[in-house]
Amino acid sequence: MVNTYQLEVVESTNKKDKPLHDQVPFGTIFTDHMFTLEYEEGKGWHEPKIVPYGPITLDPAAMIFHYGQTVFEGMKAYRTEDGRVLLFRPEKNFERLNLSSERLSIPPVDEKAMLEYLTELIKLEKNWVPATQGTSLYIRPFIISTEANLAVAPAKAYKLMIILSPVGSYFTGGLTPVIIHVEDQFTRAVKGGTGMAKTAGNYSSGYQAQANAKKAGNADVLWLDGIEKKYIEEVGSMNIFFKINGEIVTPALNGSILNGITRTSIIELLGSWGISVAQRKVSVNEIYEAYEAGQLEEVFGTGTAAVISPVGELNWQGKKMVVNNHQIGELSQKLYDTITGIQTGKVEDPLGWTVEV
Ligand code: COI
Repeated sequence: MVNTYQLEVVESTNKKDKPLHDQVPFGTIFTDHMFTLEYEEGKGWHEPKIVPYGPITLDPAAMIFHYGQTVFEGMKAYRTEDGRVLLFRPEKNFERLNLSSERLSIPPVDEKAMLEYLTELIKLEKNWVPATQGTSLYIRPFIISTEANLAVAPAKAYKLMIILSPVGSYFTGGLTPVIIHVEDQFTRAVKGGTGMAKTAGNYSSGYQAQANAKKAGNADVLWLDGIEKKYIEEVGSMNIFFKINGEIVTPALNGSILNGITRTSIIELLGSWGISVAQRKVSVNEIYEAYEAGQLEEVFGTGTAAVISPVGELNWQGKKMVVNNHQIGELSQKLYDTITGIQTGKVEDPLGWTVEV
């Protein structure tokens, strides 16, 4: 049951300085306001509010601290050259939020109402949407379980919040191809687990592998399936695509891979250009063999934060696969230009993906 009450807006009287538009890091600066919504069993979701950004108070026994019952989303608002603000397929994020919530036994939200609340928040924070090429306003909706109870069971109370952060590129080098370690010790997710849900534990459980990979000079890790350590799944922060001898391939969604909205958009965009994407099992061995045969033409990641991030090198069991001489590939560049062009209103949006705020 979902209750949509009247949105209450409390404006901040203490506005912060905005970062210079060409100096925006990823995820460390937050805007003046945030959205909050409460849930109680029997009452449903209620009390939608936009309030000044700031700390919240929780009981130390709040269930989020103990069993990690939480889900989140990542989306962006973009500034067009003529000053408008666009969202990219925002309805898909609230749809996925509910899918993640279902997996974590969190009650669903009203997706339409959420989009309306988000629109009001973005309207209020419009001046925070940066305008420089490669920047945007990152939107982080999330839900935490707030009931004070140590029982191992779904909570009876939750808080949903949306916070906003002006951001530049996720990887510090921007479009410079990244070096990725193919992880064959640790596991991110297995079929039947929570891999397809956007939930905190999927990310923090990767930190140890990530730290090892970073020490060895890699930017992130590429996860393999948890059983055979043979098939490619996704990178910690993005889905992955390969161009092998002219064919575009990405791992098929299998329950342990996140169903990325940028992933879907790239598949649909390529389809609209008459290029099909094979969604299938891809073994790391197949990639290595393609590399040895000189057929590994391009590798790129896709994600809201990562956009299109070209991969310049894959490291697997001491073997180094250099992709396209560490240069961004032609297709990766075209996809980056087109998708960011659509998102920022520079190029036509034939598939009707953007929503003006
Ligand atoms: C996103 O792309 O929005 C994500 O949530 C990935 C996160 C690891 C930054």
